[in-house]
This record gives sequence, C-alpha cells and structure tokens, in this order.
Amino acid sequence: MTRGRYIAFEGLEGCGKSTHVTRLAEAIGGVTTREPGGTAIGAALRAAMLDTNNTMLSPRAEALMMSADRAQHIDELVVPTLNSGKHVVSDRSAFSSLAYQGYGRLLDIDELKRFNNWAIQGNWPELVIFIDVPVDQLLERLKKRELDRFEREDRSFFERIYTGFHTMATADPQRWLIVDGTPPKEELQATILQGVQDRLGITLS
Ligand code: TYD
Repeated sequence: MTRGRYIAFEGLEGCGKSTHVTRLAEAIGGVTTREPGGTAIGAALRAAMLDTNNTMLSPRAEALMMSADRAQHIDELVVPTLNSGKHVVSDRSAFSSLAYQGYGRLLDIDELKRFNNWAIQGNWPELVIFIDVPVDQLLERLKKRELDRFEREDRSFFERIYTGFHTMATADPQRWLIVDGTPPKEELQATILQGVQDRLGITLS
C-alpha cells in the first residue's frame, strides 16, 4: 500500500487555515486534524495552554506542552493514518513551534528543532502551506473574537512570528508553499488545490 502524504497548513490566527484544511481534505479524500488538540490527550493540553487564566505559564513549559501534544498526535493519529494509505491534512505542525515558541517567545530555535524532531520521530510534514495575510489585517479580524492566551499577545509578538514563517518558507522552498491569503475563499481554494497537485501529484477524490 502507498503511504499517505502529510500536509500541514501554517499561518497566524485568523488567516483562514481551518476553512482550507477542511476543503483540501475533502478534495483529496484526506483526514483532517490539528495541533494542538488533535487527540483527547492533546485537547487537555490545548485547553490549559489557551486558558487566559494561565498567565504564569513559562515559555519552556509551553514549548514542552506543545511538543507533548505533538508526540501524542504523531503516534496516535498521524503515522497510523499515513500508514493506512490516507493523506493527513493538519491545521498546524511542528513548524508552529519554531514560529511561536522560537521567533515569538524567543526560545532557541535549534534546541526547539531538536526536541520537536524527537517528539515527532522525524515525521515533519512534507508540504507546508503558509497562508499569508498581513499582520494588520489579522489584528483587525481578531478584534471581533473572544481572545485566547496567545491572541492577547502584543503586535510585536505576531510580527516576529510572521517574519519567522517567511524566513522558514524562503529557506526551504521545496517544502513550503506560500499562498496569498487575501483573495476570496473560492479563489484561494483553487490556488491551494493547484499547488498540492503540482507539488505532490495527488489526484482529486
Ligand atoms: P490554533 O487552534 O491553530 O489557533 P487559531 O485557529 O486561532 O490560529 O492554535 C492555537 C494557538 O496555539 C495559536 O495561537 C498558535 C499556538 N501554537 C503555538 O504557539 N505553538 C505551536 O506549536 C502550535 C501548534 C500552536
């Protein structure tokens, strides 16, 4: 049996990732999931990390909780799904930790790469679709939401993360696909589908 392909979406909050995760998975017959919170154990970790009462959570503890979520996710869901021949379409991946805990919280990126690589046993997503929406527009969209612990961070946090995503995408263009997130949903969906077909040669279901 051919192994499924592991595709992740990345971007800042409010960029529209979740819509396109669902739409792409439907188009290619893949399984949708997310980090943090793709498993029952992960959901408990996610609730603690997003809780606005947990203002004392240290950046290193946060990084380890994210990687614990991901270790469970990879073992319980991602690898078994890929091994069963199905594609996995994930809302975020280990690259979010490099962006948020690395560029955002200013933890050492090589260190993060090392222990996240251990957490996921080397299973990095082979295609990462970065939905690029300017920070100004995202902050505008966030005004309409009830904010979680991450979304309450200041503008400079999001700007560092935005720069981080671009830096990673530019350094590894074989793996990353940057798509402009500002056009209407249908148009963006078509761009993403085309990109996935070009990069991975996946046929539509
Ligand atoms: P997510 O549910 O994708 O939020 P949103 O739908 O608002 O984009 O992710 C929850 C938060 O967790 C988000 O603010 C990003 C953050 N995060 C990290 O800081 N590090 C990580 O490794 C991951 C996966 C997410």
